[in-house]
Amino acid sequence: MRVVRLASETDFEGWRVAARTLRAEAVEPAQALWTVDGGQASLFPADAPQSPEAGTGGFKVSRAFVDLAGRVALHRSPERFDLLYRLLWRLEATPRLLEIASDPDVSLALDMQSQVNRAVHKMKAFVRFREVEAQGGLETFVAWFEPAHRVTEATAPFFTRRFSNMAFSILTPDVCAHWDTQALSFTPGADPADAPAGDDLEAYWRTYFASTFNPARLRTAAMVREMPKRYWRNLPEASLIPEMTRAAGDRTTAMVEKAPSEPARRIVRAPRADGAALGAGDGPPSSLEAVAAGVDGCRRCPLWRDATQGVAGEGPAEARLMIVGEQPGDQEDLAGRPFVGPAGQVFDEALSAAGVPRNEAYVTNAVKHFKHQLRGKRRLHKTPEAPEIEACRWWLDAERQIVRPRVIIAMGATAARSVLGKATPIGKLRGQALQLEDQAQAVVTWHPSYLLRLPDRAAKAKAQAEFIEDLRFAWSLANAAVEA
Ligand code: URA
Repeated sequence: MRVVRLASETDFEGWRVAARTLRAEAVEPAQALWTVDGGQASLFPADAPQSPEAGTGGFKVSRAFVDLAGRVALHRSPERFDLLYRLLWRLEATPRLLEIASDPDVSLALDMQSQVNRAVHKMKAFVRFREVEAQGGLETFVAWFEPAHRVTEATAPFFTRRFSNMAFSILTPDVCAHWDTQALSFTPGADPADAPAGDDLEAYWRTYFASTFNPARLRTAAMVREMPKRYWRNLPEASLIPEMTRAAGDRTTAMVEKAPSEPARRIVRAPRADGAALGAGDGPPSSLEAVAAGVDGCRRCPLWRDATQGVAGEGPAEARLMIVGEQPGDQEDLAGRPFVGPAGQVFDEALSAAGVPRNEAYVTNAVKHFKHQLRGKRRLHKTPEAPEIEACRWWLDAERQIVRPRVIIAMGATAARSVLGKATPIGKLRGQALQLEDQAQAVVTWHPSYLLRLPDRAAKAKAQAEFIEDLRFAWSLANAAVEA
């Protein structure tokens, strides 16, 4: 039996070095025992491999395996390192093993990967900082968080990018992350008692949550899935959930009885003081926040005149999948968010049927202002034309540059034109992987509004099934192995 002692629970680099050595020495998985040395850096004691540089005897693994293994290593399962070594061992005889989703080892690893990805996502969404006494003249914040898996070290850089000018610590039972605006460091895990009690920010979170809560769209099961109860303890806004859920029925009735939204609700925005057409002479923005601000002030085409606001995309800046629609509709124009109206409902249902978590994709539109014509008090959608699509492509290109998705799915002809740079027949090309110049791949599919409009039931069912199939395909492509 060969015993490997890793330096910590998340010592993936240690695992890689040891696994490579064991593999080169033909140590079978059943003969390898993976242990963690409680933080002591003694990777290779006497009974473990002595030659980490020995290599694998020419055996190379794909980038996909390394990506998968890096995530699985963060899972709390004590079996994770054994499982990874077993997979590594089997990959030599079966190089395409990872494509066999029914294989028990592969299936377990994929499940563990998605649980870890979910834990990363939840950490990004649910860490809540509380202000503490300033340190060295810097505003300082502390958060207590209990991640479902050991994702603190992997997720901390996200917070340093987002809050680069703010000193903070994220305390967890596993490890604590500290950012002093210059360097990120880690210390051993902490106790909940080390975390500060509430502050004024709590009230902010509660107000924000209450104002974004739409009782008419309340689906309790989906809400608990999105915001699992294990995180409620540290979320100031969670204390509102029971009462808001209870009152949702009455509030929905009141909303239905109220008049429908009208153009009069438009927010009239002051033009930029310098009158400049933002985005015309400026360089491309380098953050999604800058895109959102820029889109709202954009004068690259006349569509801004009749719209309430520019609607930029939303989603993680590191999303592997970008989903592009046509343009905001009436409700998106008022809400300032893509796909929240009737097409958004079709879209959400299809995503859920395809197993694509919306919050892991970057969702945007080819055109960022609502093109419409007034009919009485109603604002009727008008399809954007080529010059408008072309003008707005600058913003989509900026979003593509920042997010760098592996796959872009274009829904409908406008999105396809913008993503591919030319008119593209959806019926002919849908569901295929199309290579783009920037290394990403594109998939074109139907627009959800097209499904809503199809009068024939059979045609609608067929297009709906194709739409779901295309979303599923794009998602699997976005998560597929990339060869090293
Ligand atoms: N249709 C779109 O193409 N995008 C939206 O955001 C809403 C409806």
